[in-house]
Amino acid sequence: MIGALALLGPVLPGGVPTPSALRPAAPQAAGLESLWWFMLWTCTAVFLVVLAVLAYAMLRPRTEEPPARRAAEIITAAAAVSVVILFAFLIATMATSRKNPNEPRPTDRIVQIIGHQWWWEVHYPGARPDELVISANEIHLPAGRDVVLDLTSADVIHSFWAPNLHGKRDLIPGRHNFFRLRPENVGTYRGQCAEFCGYQHAHMGFIVFVESPDKFEEYLASQRKPAAEPVSADASRGRQVFLTNPCVTCHTIRGTGASGTNAPDLTHLASRRTIAAATVDNTAGHLGGWIADSQGVKPGNHMPPHLVSSEDLLALVAYLRSLS
Ligand code: CUA
Repeated sequence: MIGALALLGPVLPGGVPTPSALRPAAPQAAGLESLWWFMLWTCTAVFLVVLAVLAYAMLRPRTEEPPARRAAEIITAAAAVSVVILFAFLIATMATSRKNPNEPRPTDRIVQIIGHQWWWEVHYPGARPDELVISANEIHLPAGRDVVLDLTSADVIHSFWAPNLHGKRDLIPGRHNFFRLRPENVGTYRGQCAEFCGYQHAHMGFIVFVESPDKFEEYLASQRKPAAEPVSADASRGRQVFLTNPCVTCHTIRGTGASGTNAPDLTHLASRRTIAAATVDNTAGHLGGWIADSQGVKPGNHMPPHLVSSEDLLALVAYLRSLS
């Protein structure tokens, strides 16, 4: 019921529903949900028993003082029950994590995710090095297939959390943590960085698109292509503006001279639903606002302000909007 209520919640940037660990879309999340309900109902029962005993203690007639030995027995029994319950929680938690092994097997598809302040770099390695696909902040996964996420960080510790799909897993600099997932239901799922990582931690979101294996392969094939050639005069001018400004030192647009790696790859920017790590919708207005004053949208982010004329800004937006 609570899961159904969450569906009524606000729709987030990219038209994605509010995430909920109570609407699992993968067996890993379903196991965690069962564990959560088991703990909730057990703790609720304990809470009610404690309240009942408290009410009895407050309301019983004062003349009936229980002997000290009786009181000691009751306290010992209550402590023993608490220990049994805590062990039951421990065993249930260990059983749930044993059911979710994370180490990759040779047949698993690997998706590499690199955390940055404050965005997600996503790599889909191919059979050959030139089949590598690089994107940002949006992760596409095939439904009904095992996928292992290979998580690491370029700067500080982040934590990957897509509540509908799995629990949390840290991205640690210099280390690789693995996270096995088998998303069952086609859909879009919101994810969030779950470890405080600096000023814009709260705006370090991402979107997971679970799609049919065919659609997933189509996605990879389209993302492997180099950037679209500009077809309008505006977009042509926009590309010129991009290539002659400091944009190229941080961003890559494959097929042009831009090959910076400090910031999101923009080769297929227009195919993404959001910008700034799922902070705002990917519209011409937001994109223009971001280029003109990204610090106003997401203060502290590492993109310096760029002083471009309004004509250049419009051309730049036209070009970036053409990169589907
Ligand atoms: Cu990255 Cu919090």
